[in-house]
Amino acid sequence: MSSVTESSAILHQLRKETSPFHDAVEQNSFNLALTAGTVTAADTARFLAKMYGFLQPYEHQLQAHAAAFGPEWQLDQRYRAPLILEDLPHFGYAGIPPRCPVLLPLATRAQLLGAMYVLEGSTLGGQVIARQLDKAGITAHAFFTGRAERTGPLWKAFCQLLSEAAAEDPATVVASAILTFQTLSAWLNQP
Ligand code: HEM
Repeated sequence: MSSVTESSAILHQLRKETSPFHDAVEQNSFNLALTAGTVTAADTARFLAKMYGFLQPYEHQLQAHAAAFGPEWQLDQRYRAPLILEDLPHFGYAGIPPRCPVLLPLATRAQLLGAMYVLEGSTLGGQVIARQLDKAGITAHAFFTGRAERTGPLWKAFCQLLSEAAAEDPATVVASAILTFQTLSAWLNQP
């Protein structure tokens, strides 16, 4: 059963309002290939490069606004773009992947919280993907394995903090989460 904080009003609203966008992002070609059991190393490298292009500018913004978050947010443990740079050379991908040219508006803490909800939540799917990749014999996945056994505790801690912090402007948090999902889907689907 979910704890009180994981079923707070704002989390319930975020889940409900972003659920169609979660379904849509799951339909990207990499995840479809994973589910079909046809995924290749090249598909994985392309997806990782795309995720880098999206995560890097977001994490850069988060870092720039880190003073708005106390140590309890454990931001230093949440940055994941560098893990992708560890993975890519294993796929023969050299250099730094291109960044998504559409920058999310992340000027306020409420906007950052909406984007954080999406990208912190994506660590849950990452655990599923890591297992699917293992089955496909693709083992270079520092990014998807990510926080490993710390995934659940870090997500729970985030949910608890978000539930309190979102009260300052819940409408902006939800709008930012939706925009983050939409922008990510468009970027992933762009050739
Ligand atoms: C990069 C794209 C993705 C993003 C941004 C994303 C985002 C999220 C978010 C925000 C949540 C939290 C929902 C909540 O409030 O509980 C979540 C949960 C989850 N996602 Fe994704 N997700 C992505 C892709 C995937 C994929 C491809 C899968 C399947 C392989 C997946 C499986 C899950 C699972 C299993 C949960 C946990 C659901 C639960 O415990 O109730 N996600 N994801």
